[in-house]
Amino acid sequence: MYSLFLILTTFLISPTLSSKIRKIPDDLMIGCATSAYQVEGAWNEDGKGENIWDRMTHSQPERVVDGSNADIACDSYHKIDEDVALIKNVGFQHYRFSISWPRILPYGFPIVINKKGIQYYNKLIDKLIDNGITPVVTIYHFDLPQILQDLGGWTNSLVSKWFEDYARVIFDAFGDRVKLWITINEPYTICEMGYGNGTYAPGIPSSGVGDYLCARNILLAHARVYHLYKNEFVTSQKGRIGLTIQCAWKEPGSNSSIDKNAAYRDSQFEWGLYTHPIYSKRGDFPEAVKKAVKLRSLAEGFAESRLPTLSSEEVAFIRGTYDFFGLNHYFTQYVINAQPSPIGLPSYDKDVSVVRYIDPNWTKGSKIFYMNVPWGLRKILKYIKQNYGDPEVFILENGVATVEQFNNYDAIKFYYDQLNALLDAVEIDKVKVKLYTMWSLMDNFEFVGGYTYKFGLYHVDFEDPNRNRTPKLSFHFFKDLLKSRVLQLDDRYVEH
Ligand SMILES: *[C@@H]1O[C@H](CO)[C@@H](O)[C@H](O)[C@H]1NC(C)=O
Ligand SMILES: *[C@@H]1O[C@H](CO)[C@@H](O)[C@H](O)[C@H]1NC(C)=O
Ligand SMILES: *[C@@H]1O[C@H](CO)[C@@H](O)[C@H](O)[C@H]1NC(C)=O
Repeated sequence: MYSLFLILTTFLISPTLSSKIRKIPDDLMIGCATSAYQVEGAWNEDGKGENIWDRMTHSQPERVVDGSNADIACDSYHKIDEDVALIKNVGFQHYRFSISWPRILPYGFPIVINKKGIQYYNKLIDKLIDNGITPVVTIYHFDLPQILQDLGGWTNSLVSKWFEDYARVIFDAFGDRVKLWITINEPYTICEMGYGNGTYAPGIPSSGVGDYLCARNILLAHARVYHLYKNEFVTSQKGRIGLTIQCAWKEPGSNSSIDKNAAYRDSQFEWGLYTHPIYSKRGDFPEAVKKAVKLRSLAEGFAESRLPTLSSEEVAFIRGTYDFFGLNHYFTQYVINAQPSPIGLPSYDKDVSVVRYIDPNWTKGSKIFYMNVPWGLRKILKYIKQNYGDPEVFILENGVATVEQFNNYDAIKFYYDQLNALLDAVEIDKVKVKLYTMWSLMDNFEFVGGYTYKFGLYHVDFEDPNRNRTPKLSFHFFKDLLKSRVLQLDDRYVEH
């Protein structure tokens, strides 16, 4: 009663609900996430095929800051019982994990289906369900079979068919129990970092060309699998399906129209390239992106835009392929316009033509992956509601890595602030956020960050062959939150 009273009175005096104690809505599910390559280990066990991260970390270890790889990672492949107990102990309602394509299909294509791989995920899914935890399953999270990369990977226009063939195996095997599907995790990261600036596997530097080919193929791959599920599986399996896109909030660095346009353009290049074709009424790539890429392409000597076109059939095929809006959110940036670069070799950055910066206060001077801008989360949620037809929003990743490994007050402050912003968005802006997923259950292999970024609710000792897991202070914060269903910053969680 007390908290309700406080919420009501605060609401009357302030547009932001700044009350100290807030009820978590009953229909907001709270859980945590990992992905296959980042936690499983067992990279070549029981018939698993090589993926693009296995190849890159083995052949070019210098690409990862600490020269590490995920050959063993958290050894989760051998720790189903222990990991499910960790999740249950917090009280999380759902667990988002991903399926490794080459663990299921060692040759990329369904010519061999690896029974041991199927068994592993069957056991994980059954154990979660037995413990009352809803499995939320990502079908693709960055770990393409190397054998398919050898054929061009996400830049080969046949990849959408390969992905569909793989997804059919997945729905057949697990769809009787899995009711929440994420087709693809973070298209921008796959395309821009994999085939644009080339920092992520497969490490192809083809900025302004390969990244856009990838974007088109990712959209078609997602749409194919969405339609596959709707045509062949949903009647019997009755689940829901979407994808998840990382959307940073882009705040104009000034109120000039040129900087407002720049911030908008940057958002459309970074995530509008994927959200606009799927969630907007018109579909297709955003006009701002089409215009900017075409202008430079022609000046550079290309016969047509480097951004491939989507035919009207493809636009219709991609548009509306979602049951919810899947959002990964980590960043906010200020954006201002940049002077156009001289015409020369093509690049994504030249196409976007902006300068991005942040307020150093957002990062607490941390060199680690930490950015806390709660109003950025609220603004992106509001943007989604206003521009994409007020969909249900599932936050599928949100988190920080902190320097302090056990008494991680900074992480708790982050989650407290972000959840308050989420509740503002729900209560004041009426955004339909139905699921919140923190990244991550435990410290793990953070791609090019290796083991240096500690996002976990549990610390993992990577020196210990047993990969011992230890709860951090943030574990207790989430455990209290899930037990009481009340958001508050207890004195124990504030550094004195
Ligand atoms: C590649 O792109 C990512 C995401 O935009 C960025 O964080 C990173 O600094 C870029 N790396 C290089 C070498 O440009
Ligand atoms: C732009 O204008 C708004 C509304 O007047 C103001 O709140 C905001 O601080 C301004 N932004 C900048 C960067 O000056
Ligand atoms: C950072 O925070 C300090 C103290 O709250 C404030 O004085 C300063 O203006 C902030 N910096 C920026 C760039 O906003």
